[in-house]
Amino acid sequence: MRQTDYDLLDSQLRALLENEHDALAAAANFVALLFNAMDNVNWLGIYVLRGDELVLGPFQGKPACVHIALDEGVCGAAASTMQTQRVADVHAFPGHIVCDPDSRSELVVPLVAHGQLIGVLDIDSPATRRFSETDQAGVEKLCETYCALQETRKYFI
Ligand code: SME
Repeated sequence: MRQTDYDLLDSQLRALLENEHDALAAAANFVALLFNAMDNVNWLGIYVLRGDELVLGPFQGKPACVHIALDEGVCGAAASTMQTQRVADVHAFPGHIVCDPDSRSELVVPLVAHGQLIGVLDIDSPATRRFSETDQAGVEKLCETYCALQETRKYFI
């Protein structure tokens, strides 16, 4: 499996988003860039915080569940604790929400702008233990870059 070059991706993400004023277009391209740079991933997308729930945003992969409460699933755990959830085997995670039955491991990173949760980035793999500490650190850095760029816009998606 190819190891993702997160430093290169960070430069590519900045180049892609820096001059884009539309928050939705920026989110869609962030997701597409990352999906195409990671091997062995079957779903990757953003859930946006809308009131007291997460709502499906831009993604790559099969159609997925649209509404996730903050006390539900891996995404809800990441959102409510504002801590990354790196789950080696989703079948062992109590309350995991099955969207694509192929998914076996998952990485969910909170998206925080101006100190407030704006959503989560969710990545699913059909392999158990797909995501290493290096992947977690790399994806967290990309999410920081994405959120810092979103902070320059008048609104979020
Ligand atoms: N598995 C997630 C739900 C979203 S899908 O994986 C796209 C969860 O447990 O929160």
